[in-house]
Amino acid sequence: MRSSIVLFGLAAVHGANAWGTLGHETVAYIAQNFVASSTASWAQNILGDTSDSYLANVATWADTFRYTTAGKWSAPFHFIDAEDNPPSSCSIDYDRDCGAGGCVVSAITNYTARVQSTKISSSEVATALKFIVHFVGDITQPLHDEAYEVGGNDVDVTFDGTSTNLHHIWDTNMPEELRGGYQLSDAKSWAADLTTMINTGSYKSQKAAWISGLDISNAKKTSLAWAADANAYVCSVVMPNGATTLESGDLYPTYYNNAIPTVELQIAKAGYRLAKWLDAIAAKSAKKRDVDLEDEDEDEVVATNGMSLLPLPRQLSDAQLRRAAIGYGCKH
Ligand SMILES: *[C@@H]1O[C@H](CO)[C@@H](O)[C@H](O)[C@H]1NC(C)=O
Repeated sequence: MRSSIVLFGLAAVHGANAWGTLGHETVAYIAQNFVASSTASWAQNILGDTSDSYLANVATWADTFRYTTAGKWSAPFHFIDAEDNPPSSCSIDYDRDCGAGGCVVSAITNYTARVQSTKISSSEVATALKFIVHFVGDITQPLHDEAYEVGGNDVDVTFDGTSTNLHHIWDTNMPEELRGGYQLSDAKSWAADLTTMINTGSYKSQKAAWISGLDISNAKKTSLAWAADANAYVCSVVMPNGATTLESGDLYPTYYNNAIPTVELQIAKAGYRLAKWLDAIAAKSAKKRDVDLEDEDEDEVVATNGMSLLPLPRQLSDAQLRRAAIGYGCKH
């Protein structure tokens, strides 16, 4: 009896993860491979974890939290519902697309300020870091930057004989098909391969563009650019001929073969960006301690609750009503 409850619990957590467990842990390991050693110490100190999986160990915490009663309020932070018109036009507009309860862009902005704050408790600083590790991953998943059919959750598809939905195959089925599992060790080896591609392989010449304009003091602008970058793949790769054609037939192997390079690219990008993001934050935090700031800076003001980040309240769109109806979660 007890073991079946435990198994059920694991299955529920596994199924619910955005960029599944494998994707998020891979992003975290890639970041660990690229951060400065001073950044690693900074993060290990905040998280109270000096193991060699200190970011990977917290990479899916935000997904576990969103499905608890206490953490339900954070569910909208995992995506931004772009109300664009794929496949003919893809775009992100903060005032149009970020919901009244927040979105992944406001969340990255809020937690980037909070992780640097000296005015909140150390456990709240740790929470901020855990959220950042997760959301910098989520924002690169194209369907986390798309409102169409609740981010593809309502596009029913078959993948390798399994009935599921378009959102879920991007989060989970396609990464797991590629790597064959979702254990921490699978994430570590995928991260090692992508790290090699970033250092010496086909991503070497692209990586500078992934972090161009990266600016922790304008986290909203930076994360909006990341959202727009991922959203563009909705039109070009996720549903280039619209979604209806995806609802018949099996998306394995033809669709998969076409999409998997983008899955890998987005995971690699997220890990590399996360490393540079954390490097910038850790460096600024170290400098702040040295200077002993007296002035209240912009970050501190945002850090109190981040409410100034949110767009003005407005009537809910149809897409927002549908999102609310499924409790801001993912279907699977
Ligand atoms: C900022 O983070 C705090 C702590 O998690 C939260 O209470 C607040 O709602 C967040 N604000 C925004 C705009 O996300």
